[in-house]
Amino acid sequence: MKLAFGKLAVYAVTLVAGATVANADCPDYTTYSSSPQGNPSTGPLGLPYMRPDPGCRTFNSTIVEKVITDMKSRLKDPDVARLFENTFPNTLDTTVKYYDPSVNLAFIITGVPQWLRDTGNQFAHYHSLLSLDKELATLVKAVINNEARYVTEYPYCGAFQPPPESGLQPSHNDWADGVIVNPPVDNETVYECKYEVDSLCGFIKLSVSYYEETKDASMMNSNWLSAIDQIFRVINEQSQASFDADFNFISYYNWTGTPGAYSGAVDNAGNGEPKGYTGMVGTHHRPSDDLSVFAFLTPANAMLTVELNNLATILDDAKIAPNVSAQAKKWSKSIEEAIWKHTLVDNIFAYETNGLGSRYVMDDANVPSLLSLPYLGFLNMTHPAYLATRKLLMSRHNPYYAKGKTFSGIGGPHIDAWNPWPMSQVSAIFGTDNDEEILTSLYTIVNNTAGLGLIHESIDIYDTTQYTRPWFAWANSYFAEMLLDLAQRKPHLIFTDNKPYTPGM
Ligand SMILES: *[C@@H]1O[C@H](CO)[C@@H](O)[C@H](O)[C@H]1NC(C)=O
Ligand SMILES: *[C@@H]1O[C@H](CO)[C@@H](O)[C@H](O)[C@H]1NC(C)=O
Ligand SMILES: *[C@@H]1O[C@H](CO)[C@@H](O)[C@H](O)[C@H]1NC(C)=O
Ligand SMILES: *[C@@H]1O[C@H](CO)[C@@H](O)[C@H](O)[C@H]1NC(C)=O
Ligand SMILES: *[C@@H]1O[C@H](CO)[C@@H](O)[C@H](O)[C@H]1NC(C)=O
Ligand SMILES: *[C@@H]1O[C@H](CO)[C@@H](O)[C@H](O)[C@H]1NC(C)=O
Repeated sequence: MKLAFGKLAVYAVTLVAGATVANADCPDYTTYSSSPQGNPSTGPLGLPYMRPDPGCRTFNSTIVEKVITDMKSRLKDPDVARLFENTFPNTLDTTVKYYDPSVNLAFIITGVPQWLRDTGNQFAHYHSLLSLDKELATLVKAVINNEARYVTEYPYCGAFQPPPESGLQPSHNDWADGVIVNPPVDNETVYECKYEVDSLCGFIKLSVSYYEETKDASMMNSNWLSAIDQIFRVINEQSQASFDADFNFISYYNWTGTPGAYSGAVDNAGNGEPKGYTGMVGTHHRPSDDLSVFAFLTPANAMLTVELNNLATILDDAKIAPNVSAQAKKWSKSIEEAIWKHTLVDNIFAYETNGLGSRYVMDDANVPSLLSLPYLGFLNMTHPAYLATRKLLMSRHNPYYAKGKTFSGIGGPHIDAWNPWPMSQVSAIFGTDNDEEILTSLYTIVNNTAGLGLIHESIDIYDTTQYTRPWFAWANSYFAEMLLDLAQRKPHLIFTDNKPYTPGM
């Protein structure tokens, strides 16, 4: 996710002949997705068909094609149907850079590297298909195994280089130049080492969805178990206060940034703002890759408590590592309690707190966000604290809410305050049962793809033809996942009839 527009230029240079899934004669998808391609849809928006040529798709799945056909036959608005058709397969069409089931490894790109967070989200909408398509499940297993290697070695990092087995060359990351990071990293394996606790949640989430659908405990191999151990190491380290009782400064991870660079230089020798102890787990950067203002990011801790609980469930089900399951349950419970105790004031969740009395009331567009708390499984959309917080977030009280003539939503400092992200409107839909609100959010997204039929990162409220990231697989997946959710929860809003649709059935 979250590479600024200026960085897109490097996307095309990583191909090594013969080593990748993609055909070298195929157009670079960033370029391809920047202008309308196939025939327009028959709806008023006339959205183009944007899937790559079949010979250029990076993974084929019969069940994914069936879901597209099924949904297209049921969706009443041809523009929405076209968006589903373009977005649902986008991860498989464009991001499987390398896959070799014989070594149980796959490399999934967002732009150039593999991001733990994005990858988890890029596959989230295929969750229920993993029990129906064995090859798709095998791909996900290979993704998990590759990530387990990364997490075992570098649990503080979030973006990685291709595995050596792929024959793909590592890519140079200009943004990492001059940055000092501790523990130190090898740039042949790590693309960028910003510590974002939700990246680790993304790895757990993908593992949970694989096991839930396949019941294949062979995914939990020694490589995976050591990755899980490293996650607990990070949780232990990052829940501690910055100063101990004698004012010794405790730092397990620090990242300096560079003056003038994308993230700027980081105060306190790369440690950022000091924090107290709360029972939550601190993070260094947000899911946007921006530096955190305060270390305790409420929505990331919400995701962590949910995913640790899910982790315990699959371990117990597979009868593997009861000690790890016990740890997961213990942490899940204490993090949940700390969120309710330390982040809520007058029913409003803070986005960030520091454990010393300071709180930042705002929301950022990326998931995990406060708006997405029901999507994350942390609380019910009817909970009074969610209702009050949601109302505030979709108003001027959230500094990163912005509204123009046709587009509105929540953005973040990653792009700027007047470029909200369509993803925030997807989160809004996951967080309400109100038909009118759902349709308004849905059409706020559908009406604003700059005529390109894909979901972009952010859109300028003053000029909706201006957007960032023509190709953003995570946003495409999230949008498709939301339509599949509506297909079950609110069929009458999007279908010609009121019969719910379950993917693959
Ligand atoms: C997907 O199928 C097309 C034919 O429809 C083929 O040309 C292409 O190579 C396949 N892609 C992969 C990754 O197998
Ligand atoms: C890794 O760092 C070394 C030393 O700074 C540099 O020469 C090399 O180009 C870097 N490799 C990548 C892939 O960025
Ligand atoms: C940075 O982190 C390392 C551990 O990775 C630690 O040894 C070192 O003291 C920290 N440095 C600062 C300035 O906090
Ligand atoms: C669980 O027990 C195994 C085997 O004794 C050990 O290697 C591992 O570190 C433990 N993990 C946790 C999270 O306690
Ligand atoms: C949320 O709560 C309502 C009752 O207030 C209940 O009907 C619904 O099933 C709950 N939803 C979830 C996802 O738990
Ligand atoms: C979407 O565009 C249509 C056609 O211009 C318009 O009627 C509708 O109000 C728009 N919806 C939203 C939520 O902007």
